[in-house]
Amino acid sequence: ARLVIAIDGPSGSGKSSVSKAVARKLGAAYLDTGAMYRAITYSVLADGTDLDDAAAVAQAVRDAKLSISVDPDAELVVIGETDVTEAIREPRISEQVSAVATNLDARAELVRRQQEIIAANTRIVAEGRDITTVVAPDADARILLTASEEARLRRRGLQLGGTQNDAQLATQVLARDAKDSTVVNFTQAADGVMTVDSSDLDFEQTIAAVLDAVDT
Ligand code: CDP
Repeated sequence: ARLVIAIDGPSGSGKSSVSKAVARKLGAAYLDTGAMYRAITYSVLADGTDLDDAAAVAQAVRDAKLSISVDPDAELVVIGETDVTEAIREPRISEQVSAVATNLDARAELVRRQQEIIAANTRIVAEGRDITTVVAPDADARILLTASEEARLRRRGLQLGGTQNDAQLATQVLARDAKDSTVVNFTQAADGVMTVDSSDLDFEQTIAAVLDAVDT
């Protein structure tokens, strides 16, 4: 039978590692939709396209030859002929990805491609900011993974009151979430979406809580 699991959450909620682990346990595919936003950001920057030119960015998304692995054990993101798996994790991408995420035409095209990938897999865990609400509102299980601000920064190895560099990075993470939430509401669970708060759960406990939500 088909099984689609949709997981949304903010930065540092543990979304990616938890989603991957859940996919492994269920023998399902895994889709990291954030990696797609990151790959587009990488390619727009590489091409010298102005990230603030909304029409140009939207066109770049439509033209993009983007391929992403759905194997939870083999991350691979390729744009054009370039393997960008590592490069999309660079801070400069995290800093600028919101320009793509807040571009509604870019989102529409990425959502369409994500829906195609989900439809092509019998069992899949898809993770992001708008999966429970926009990409796969009909998923068999829809989960919002949250965590307190403190816990989210802690997972990124950051503290607001830490060194100046830490404080700066922490501010960046929070600023990105604030920007993202202007276009997608991932801070409150939509109707029918189950919230799992991981603030006081360790990794295994969080996986167990998500698997619980899948069963019920
Ligand atoms: O690093 P983090 O886990 O916070 O983010 P990510 O999952 O790698 O996603 C990177 C960025 O892509 C987010 O900050 C959002 O701007 C955007 N994104 C989105 O808008 N919608 C999604 N479904 C997934 C990611």
